[in-house]
Amino acid sequence: MQISHKARQFTESVIRDMTRQAIQHNAVNLSQGFPDFAAPNAVKLAAQQAIQEDINQYAITWGAKNFRNAIAQKFLEWQKLEIDPDREVTVCCGSTEAMIASLFALADPGDEIIVFEPFYENYGPDAILSGAIPRYVTLYPPTSAGEDWHFEAAELRAAFNERTRAIIINSPHNPTGKVFQLAELELIRDLCVEFDAIAITDEIYEHILYEGALHISLATVDGMRDRTVTINSLSKTYSVTGWRVGWAIAPPEVTTAIRKVHDFLTVGAAAPLQAAGVAALSLPSSYYLDLAEKYTERRDLLLAALRHVGFQVFCPRGAYYIIADISGFKAGDDRAFARRLVQDIGVAAVPGSSFYKHPEHGAHWIRFTFCKTLETLNSAVDNLQRLRTQL
Ligand SMILES: Cc1ncc(COP(=O)(O)O)c(C=O)c1O
Repeated sequence: MQISHKARQFTESVIRDMTRQAIQHNAVNLSQGFPDFAAPNAVKLAAQQAIQEDINQYAITWGAKNFRNAIAQKFLEWQKLEIDPDREVTVCCGSTEAMIASLFALADPGDEIIVFEPFYENYGPDAILSGAIPRYVTLYPPTSAGEDWHFEAAELRAAFNERTRAIIINSPHNPTGKVFQLAELELIRDLCVEFDAIAITDEIYEHILYEGALHISLATVDGMRDRTVTINSLSKTYSVTGWRVGWAIAPPEVTTAIRKVHDFLTVGAAAPLQAAGVAALSLPSSYYLDLAEKYTERRDLLLAALRHVGFQVFCPRGAYYIIADISGFKAGDDRAFARRLVQDIGVAAVPGSSFYKHPEHGAHWIRFTFCKTLETLNSAVDNLQRLRTQL
């Protein structure tokens, strides 16, 4: 069988595999980032109503007009940036498709794409599939409380060169919980301008923030309006990861290219769910406050439990993941540890190596998600007590 060179360069998603293992071993699944609680009722009702009203055929390929209008309206309200829903928005099948369609639209074989490491595992294969070469820049863990993960400016500068086509930024960041600060975004801006590169920002955790952390959309940073593709989706903010509705906001010329790629990749995202997306994006601001508050409670519960059983943990400032250091357990590397955790302890987590180009860099930690009900988290916490005797 002839397998393409591209497909041979990456493996199946480790995160999605951990979910299958969780099911197989009847373990509490704290691996894949999907909520196990209900989506907002108003949003579910809007989806039912849309199907009932026969919004069941293809929407306009780059997104239903009322949904694109709602996306532009929300961006204006929250980021104070006016965008043209007719020329600057492409609705896709999740931010996953928005990212790959953007890379297909922007990158040529041999181009380089800069990615911060650890990274959300899709970005590497995304870059490879687009023919580009990923270049990784390390995010270093905080060394004291109150600090966030950080990159070295000199290392970022060294990654840029005349072949750099784009840089991918994910803030709030999966898996570290880092929230990029204005000064960091300005540095990225300066380098993008100097090397004529474009920034692609994945902002799907924009509303999941802790202790007053502030999400700054890179497109709002001076000089970036016309060099940024802003990617977002309904998945995380409205707890509908299975709906597969996301979008890319980009300058008109880039949008035209993204729309062409998107059309031939998927034709369009589910029409009734785009209609429900209008209801989601129109929820009052109290919805987002409540979302962040509930996530704070879940985060604090899991952080305390992980510390209690012997992990060293990094406290996230955004998103819904915790990185935990497994060095204290002497139970092998991250993959061996995750295997024993799911098989013997009854909790599924993601091995840290799956977030790195060089697996050894993540071999001493694993990632837990806390986008689960308090009940689910408490049963994970109960199972984790076994760690003290069994590992
Ligand atoms: C950083 C990041 N981007 C994208 C995705 C996928 O999002 P979507 O469901 O919108 O495709 C995830 C899912 O975990 C993620 O963590």
